[in-house]
Amino acid sequence: MTERDDVLTAKLRGFGTTIFAEMSALAVETGAINLGQGFPDTDGPGEVLDTAVAAIRDGHNQYPPGPGIADLRCAVAEHQRRFYGLDLDPDRQVVITAGATEAIAGALLGMLDAGDEVVVFEPMYDSYAASIALADATAVPVLLAPDDDGTFVYDSNELRTAIGARTKILLLNTPHNPTGKVFGRAELEEIAALAIEHDLIVVTDEVYEHLTFDGNEHIPIATLPGMFERTLTISSGGKTFRTTGWKIGWMSGPDALVAAARTAKQFLTFVNGAPFQPAIAAGLRLGDDYFAELAGSLQTARDHLVDGLRGAGFTTYVPEATYFVTVDVRAVAAASGAPDTGLDFCRDLPHRCGVVAVPDEVFYARPEHGRHLVRFACCKQLDVIDAAAERLRGAFAAEVPA
Ligand SMILES: Cc1ncc(COP(=O)(O)O)c(C=O)c1O
Repeated sequence: MTERDDVLTAKLRGFGTTIFAEMSALAVETGAINLGQGFPDTDGPGEVLDTAVAAIRDGHNQYPPGPGIADLRCAVAEHQRRFYGLDLDPDRQVVITAGATEAIAGALLGMLDAGDEVVVFEPMYDSYAASIALADATAVPVLLAPDDDGTFVYDSNELRTAIGARTKILLLNTPHNPTGKVFGRAELEEIAALAIEHDLIVVTDEVYEHLTFDGNEHIPIATLPGMFERTLTISSGGKTFRTTGWKIGWMSGPDALVAAARTAKQFLTFVNGAPFQPAIAAGLRLGDDYFAELAGSLQTARDHLVDGLRGAGFTTYVPEATYFVTVDVRAVAAASGAPDTGLDFCRDLPHRCGVVAVPDEVFYARPEHGRHLVRFACCKQLDVIDAAAERLRGAFAAEVPA
């Protein structure tokens, strides 16, 4: 075949290889501690793992039904009722997907037409922009930026102005990656009122629903008055059961939204993860103590990482939830001579002190807003976090004025 520069579809030009691949390769090359990608370094609960092993042994190794096995769809419906009081018909209102990522792609590809607009808070999980582009639609970003207290907030006027005649979907992520923000009730009420006023569909990614700290409550927007009928809720077992490699996710909501997303989803993977589906069903039925302990232990890890980052001199934004802590590198860079943009800072960091993080600018439609921010993952064992903190303190603490 002749060399040509138009092989990649124009829709995906500019997406290239993700920064996670570059940073993980750098971690391997330098032997650095990898706090870049958000995956836990311990296995999930024994009951969940044992159920998957038994399912493989018991012959659950062929294509499962298109919408997912009935037991898992029932477990998702039970979970939504138990935690949020939402009533779902597991046959028509729940579909199992190849992770939340496929549910997001299915929703966007199944609902958007060329020229439609999606209002989305930035920074954002990187698959959103790619899925919107593949649908030939346009992302209209609304900025989340730290206020004086270090809490990430949006500007209501920017949100209002972002919604236009072509807006079809408002894409929400709460708890939010990478900022660790949990959208509060007043914010969700404002978003819901705008969705109703402009007749928008809300697609909400809630994969970190069980990873909230300090008593912050995760509120699914589907529970607000008038919202269930216009909301597609997406989640996954990866974060909640420390099984990110299994890629078992789901979407739930009113029949019409689920049907539209399912129509696209069936031509993406069709189905996946037969033996992992009963295992995630077992996980969703674990007792309240499991979910409380999960959030509690991650909060302890968050505290260790926040202390380490502050000790090293970083301006550190304490997350209300999720796997991630965001810092502003400028003070540390100015004092130590390290690069002061996130991208260069992260490329330099493994060589300087043996730690890998990721630059937040890759999560922005307008990268200039995230230029100085860097994300560290706290979903690691405490001794790993402490070792990384020690290296960061060793590299920077003496340089930064207290
Ligand atoms: C906000 C958000 N949504 C979705 C995903 C992906 O979920 P899954 O692995 O279930 O596809 C991630 C993973 O990091 C995420 O942070």
